[in-house]
Amino acid sequence: MFHSSRLTYRKLNNTDFDFFYNLFSDQNVMKYAYLEAFSSKEEAKDAFEKKLVMQEDDNEGTQYVAALKNDHTIIGIVDYEVLLKNHLGGIYEIGYFIQTDYWGKGYATEMGKALIDFLFNNDNVHKIVASCHKENLTSETIMKKLGMRQEGVFRLARYKNGSWIDEIRYSLLRQEWSE
Ligand SMILES: CC(C)(COP(=O)(O)OP(=O)(O)OC[C@H]1O[C@@H](n2cnc3c(N)ncnc32)[C@H](O)[C@@H]1OP(=O)(O)O)[C@@H](O)C(=O)NCCC(=O)NCCS
Repeated sequence: MFHSSRLTYRKLNNTDFDFFYNLFSDQNVMKYAYLEAFSSKEEAKDAFEKKLVMQEDDNEGTQYVAALKNDHTIIGIVDYEVLLKNHLGGIYEIGYFIQTDYWGKGYATEMGKALIDFLFNNDNVHKIVASCHKENLTSETIMKKLGMRQEGVFRLARYKNGSWIDEIRYSLLRQEWSE
């Protein structure tokens, strides 16, 4: 568990299914996401169970549920996936998903910064990356605000709404974070 100025973060657990389903079945939230919105509770349940199993393995990744400090309302999920790990450190990819009622209040930036600080402080990570659909300009702004630099464009790397779309990737090295 960790926290930032307005939020607390804890690992996803089996009490979170309803929130998980509502968040990832919302077409607005999933508009630019890598995956499609869930179309049924069964599909969501399967993915949810897999996430819970996955985060038991240090080599896979973890989902953190973010809740408001003042009234404990859960507003979103910030997560990481381990892309690579060896004795010199790891490369982790982060992502953030927030319920639409809470957009535009700086929460994603706060969540991203909190997770980046938590990972660099507590894990042998040497680089953190984030990526987005090229039209997800809000997400790109957040990556810049997190101090990340653009690595490049993965050409037509995502399939969304019936066509291939470029993916933009940013990253932050441990050395840049500590400066
Ligand atoms: C993307 C998402 C996480 C943003 O959350 P949020 O809490 O509203 O984001 P923040 O308020 O922290 O920051 C948004 C920034 O983008 C900027 N922004 C908004 N619309 C923009 C646009 N069209 N072009 C460029 N920047 C834009 C805002 O001005 C703000 O920057 P500022 O604080 O300097 O003004 C949220 O909309 C969401 O959950 N979307 C669905 C999931 C998703 O796309 N996740 C990202 C990919 S992993």
